Amino acid sequence: MPTAIQHSVPFFNYPHVFTSHEAELLAIIRDVGRRGAFIMQRDLGEFEQNLATFLDARHALGVGNATDGLIIALRAAGLTPGDEVILSSHTMIATAAAVHFAGGTPIPVECGPDHLIDPAAIESAITTRTRALVPTQLNGRTCDMDRLQAIADKHGLMIVEDAAQALGSRFKGQCAGTFGIAAAISFYPAKVLGCLGDGGAVIAGSDEVFNRAYQLRDHGRNQDGEIVSWGLNSRLDNLQAAILDHGLRTYEAVMTRRRQIAAIYQEQLGDVAEVVLPPAPDSDPNHYDIYQNYEIEAERRDELKQYLKDQGIGTLIQWGGQAVHQLKALGFTQHLPYTDYLFTRMLMLPMNMALSDDDVAYVCDQVRRFYGR
Ligand SMILES: Cc1ncc(COP(=O)(O)O)c(C=O)c1O
Repeated sequence: MPTAIQHSVPFFNYPHVFTSHEAELLAIIRDVGRRGAFIMQRDLGEFEQNLATFLDARHALGVGNATDGLIIALRAAGLTPGDEVILSSHTMIATAAAVHFAGGTPIPVECGPDHLIDPAAIESAITTRTRALVPTQLNGRTCDMDRLQAIADKHGLMIVEDAAQALGSRFKGQCAGTFGIAAAISFYPAKVLGCLGDGGAVIAGSDEVFNRAYQLRDHGRNQDGEIVSWGLNSRLDNLQAAILDHGLRTYEAVMTRRRQIAAIYQEQLGDVAEVVLPPAPDSDPNHYDIYQNYEIEAERRDELKQYLKDQGIGTLIQWGGQAVHQLKALGFTQHLPYTDYLFTRMLMLPMNMALSDDDVAYVCDQVRRFYGR
């Protein structure tokens, strides 16, 4: 007879996003609702200002979600039809889709052992049509932006960052989202800073790109409300902005807690030869990682996943287990063997604010047990 599950650790606890701050969130909803402040009101402006200050960015602009944010960022940066845009194949389809909808051609390339875009692979994918790089700051870790910037400078390319997973992550002390000409961040509920629905931001390093993005998100209107160009409707709801502004106030503590969880995983799984762990929190002074995800590589990955499930532990394989170049329905033809290999091995362990130290220890015990340790 199977033994009863001792402990349950879901991969992500969606109700916790609300229940962990229920009283404050209800007060915000009541306040915004009673003011009737739904679209482009002061809460949005305040959040944009606070977000820009947090990132030390010139401008932040609330948008409907990061996918729209990337489309807006790419268009505001001046992408034109036919431009090729290099991105990692280990990213959400949203990165490639944004390039497509901004008129460009997405070119997925290999990621490296840290699961981020491989700079050497970028160099070999550059053609005369290459116009931009869109590095994904994956799993809450920022790429080596010195190397990417050197490649961009050498070939006259612009960088637009997919920082959907990386609010507060830093490389050499500088925040993800502030390296390129523009960037997008996601506030999907499971993100480190999540709202109660969809939400995103565009980060712009210049007034010119900001003004174009500003118009694109709101029907082509400029800051005086005049229609001066073609635009979309992709505004961040004022209510979500008020909720996000509240979350931003305690964000340092959230990043610290996630780094603590990563340190526990490191301490308790670091000697298990069958798994490869992400870089430990303080292993490299150039990187401050915020662990949007804790993505390991594991031998016998699918068996481990099933075993953990049987022990009440939720895990996830990112992007439903498919890299961008593996999506044949979208016409990709690239051959990326290292990424293919990683996609047979990668697995995300629980990493969220609902986890107790005991939960993390239980996950580690079960991983060790699976490998007979
Ligand atoms: C790397 C990456 N890019 C883009 C997105 C799209 O973000 P959104 O859901 O806000 O459109 C996500 C969201 O999961 C993501 O992880």
